[in-house]
Amino acid sequence: MKVVTFEATPNIAVVKYWGKRNTQLILPTNSSISMTLDSLKTRTSVAFDETFEKDELYLNGENVDLEKNSEAKERLKQLDAIRAKAGINKKAKIVSINCFPTAAGFASSASGLAALACAASKAAGLKLDSQELSILARLGSGSASRSVLGGFVEWMKGEKEDGSDSYAVQLADENYWKEMRVISVVVSQGAKSISSRTGMQQTLETSELFKKRLAYLPAAIDSMVEAIKEKNFELFAEITMKDSDNMHACMADTKPPIIYMNETSKKIIDVVKELNAASTIAAYTFDAGPNAHIYCLEPHINKVIEALEKLPQVEQIILSKAGSGPVEISDEKEHLLDPVTGEIRKHFFDKGKNKIIVG
Ligand code: DP6
Repeated sequence: MKVVTFEATPNIAVVKYWGKRNTQLILPTNSSISMTLDSLKTRTSVAFDETFEKDELYLNGENVDLEKNSEAKERLKQLDAIRAKAGINKKAKIVSINCFPTAAGFASSASGLAALACAASKAAGLKLDSQELSILARLGSGSASRSVLGGFVEWMKGEKEDGSDSYAVQLADENYWKEMRVISVVVSQGAKSISSRTGMQQTLETSELFKKRLAYLPAAIDSMVEAIKEKNFELFAEITMKDSDNMHACMADTKPPIIYMNETSKKIIDVVKELNAASTIAAYTFDAGPNAHIYCLEPHINKVIEALEKLPQVEQIILSKAGSGPVEISDEKEHLLDPVTGEIRKHFFDKGKNKIIVG
């Protein structure tokens, strides 16, 4: 049986996506910009076969019951789109593993669904470009649409009702702004109080401030494109922090209020403010959780990490550069599914023996 394996990585938005104009097709209210990371990889193997009776998903070694877990089933919508495009009706087996400590507290939906779009479309015999892959990944999770490309990426919101113009494009590849780094600061591994999927719709429906956000965003997107083009860190940092603050202000303005940041997150903001007192060297950004991502340039990494390490509540620090986007793993031994038996290769999931290394 044909098994296809891809690895993909998350992206960290600097102009955020928060709000859908179409919840079925996952069409956003605004365009967003992110950098794809080179670390925190998710590896996904996919096979379609006539002997499979139903679609099956294994996440980090555990079977996910798609009959009972409607959210997981919803996120796999792209499988039907792939089958329709390829003209097949075989069921799929999907095996996915996060190649980083699961305790790190990072969402893996962007990397997982981008890896799935690449692996499943190829396993179904399709040869798709990044635009088509981005649209498929988007059907599972909005932010995944950006992880099908490396470097700096813009997810264009599009105008059409069918979503055919809502996909990601690359602004600059991973080698363009070589000094750029992201320091991810893990402060909490607890589950979210409210999922981003539910939270963003509540914001859209109830926040007055959100209307202002939508009005300011097109100019923020233009300035961010300019900042990346000119490698202007000061401008890049200003827009990144302003947009994170703005999104979290809209979350707080939601009825009932949504608060993802905790006391440590606020302390991290203070640390960054202090670091930037003389000149801007670091930019914080927060997604739907208390963990921080700090953008900074290579010469300042040690200074920034030293300052963050002083906070006793910081549990883990992960350093990333810009990544290349999804990569196919063609070495047969590295597939998570055995191409002969169609069985999961259990040794990849044995605790303590995980062969796949962080990074
Ligand atoms: C806060 O992509 O997780 O990280 O489309 O409902 O799956 P769904 O949401 P998701 O949203 C994450 C939004 C964010 C900001 C961003 O990455 O742009």
